[in-house]
Amino acid sequence: MTLESVKPEAPGTRDTSEAPELRLPPLAGGAVPVLGHGLKLVRDPLAFMSALREHGDIVRLRLGPKTVYAVTTPALTGALALSPDFKIDGPLWESLEGLLGKEGVATANGPRHRRQRRTIQPAFRLDAIPDYGPVMEEEAHALTGRWKPGETIDCTSESFRVAVRIAARCLLRGDCMDERAERLSIDLAAVFRGMYRRMVMPLGPLYRLPFPANREFNRALADLHLLVDEIVAERRASGQKPDDLLTALLEAKDDNGDPIGEQEIHDQVVAILTPGSETVASTIMWLLQVLAEHPEHAEKVRTEVESVTGGRPVGFEHVRALRHTNNVVVEAMRLRPAVWILTRRAVTDTELGGYRIPAGADIVYSPYAIQRDGRSYARHLDFDPDRWLPERAKDVPKYAMSPFSVGNRKCPSDHFSMTQLSLITAAISAKYRFEQVDGSNDSTRVGITLRPHDLRLRAMPW
Ligand code: HEM
Repeated sequence: MTLESVKPEAPGTRDTSEAPELRLPPLAGGAVPVLGHGLKLVRDPLAFMSALREHGDIVRLRLGPKTVYAVTTPALTGALALSPDFKIDGPLWESLEGLLGKEGVATANGPRHRRQRRTIQPAFRLDAIPDYGPVMEEEAHALTGRWKPGETIDCTSESFRVAVRIAARCLLRGDCMDERAERLSIDLAAVFRGMYRRMVMPLGPLYRLPFPANREFNRALADLHLLVDEIVAERRASGQKPDDLLTALLEAKDDNGDPIGEQEIHDQVVAILTPGSETVASTIMWLLQVLAEHPEHAEKVRTEVESVTGGRPVGFEHVRALRHTNNVVVEAMRLRPAVWILTRRAVTDTELGGYRIPAGADIVYSPYAIQRDGRSYARHLDFDPDRWLPERAKDVPKYAMSPFSVGNRKCPSDHFSMTQLSLITAAISAKYRFEQVDGSNDSTRVGITLRPHDLRLRAMPW
């Protein structure tokens, strides 16, 4: 199975003026006075989101004084993502904008967003990926080369390091990128920790007090912005124009044909590096966890790699033939999607699934809940990579597996990500098997992405 084989199709929405009979979605059960569903959502967001389909295809949630609409079926999440009546907006995006910038592609809407996507898209196209092969290979082997047999691996920092290094070296290639990638990975890990705290505990002014955690967050955020400025300034000063994403950004023109502003260039680099590292790093952590928890699949991956490479170091050219490895990656992403929650805002009064959605409504849905739903998957909680064999994958309902989303906000990096994830999984499985050590905690940490709390594995040679 490749993710591209789950094809988008536009199941449209309707103009509400033609449909006077439209109803509001039902209120989900279990709301309590004042807080509504808020407490349940905060206490156990994954269980809460996963149970909502019992209450309806679309349900209303009360979060304090606010009403939020939750979409619970694969078909309707596809319709939502593909409809022009919804845009990126809402409290999550507003808080991200405040920290990471307002002018990047991940938060822009309308003509600016379309223009920005046109600028960045060529760097992620399928035919651009082979150029990144050598860096991906080098980084995948450098990762396993750092580990000593029998050593305990701190999977959080190792996964972040390789994800950031690949994104930075492939997309912003240039001198000194090794040292910068290292700094970026340290900064981004601290920034994401802080953003997670601010998301789950919105304590406003308390985050301005000079506590060590706040100082660490502010330092990392400032250094992240400084680094991006340094990268841009150095490229400009060099006069070089390698064929990469940074050159595309520096050469981009706005709708009037004028060069885009400094702030937009800066925010674009941040907006690409930030989602590009946290998501891939979280997925690598889950892949390591899966290899430790399912030694039978680790063994199967190792055997496949050996038979495809003939015992040589795995390379970019082998990735397409690594069917089982790829299915292990997809299945890990199904059960533990890095992006577990997505939001939209209705730009107009509209209709979805036969319900009326008022202009300005915030909509939420959870790829985690959709991808673990027993109505879409047999033995839905089992880790079963073979469910992605072509003869079985065809039974998966449309949009029941869209970890990169669909529509105009679809992740530009699906090919880039899948290639590096398969290559990394193959490289580490060829060399090591893993077991969790005392003190490792692989329970799910719900943050901006999903990842294990503190995964520590012993790497043992085969
Ligand atoms: C958007 C998932 C890796 C850059 C998205 C979205 C998803 C996603 C679901 C859509 C958000 C929405 O609909 O609101 C993932 C996953 C990844 C991954 C699961 C890896 C496992 C990356 C990488 C990069 C990247 C490596 C860049 C180097 C972006 C950007 C957007 C985005 C720039 C915003 C696109 C837009 O709004 O037009 N990603 N992503 N992602 N992703 Fe990824």
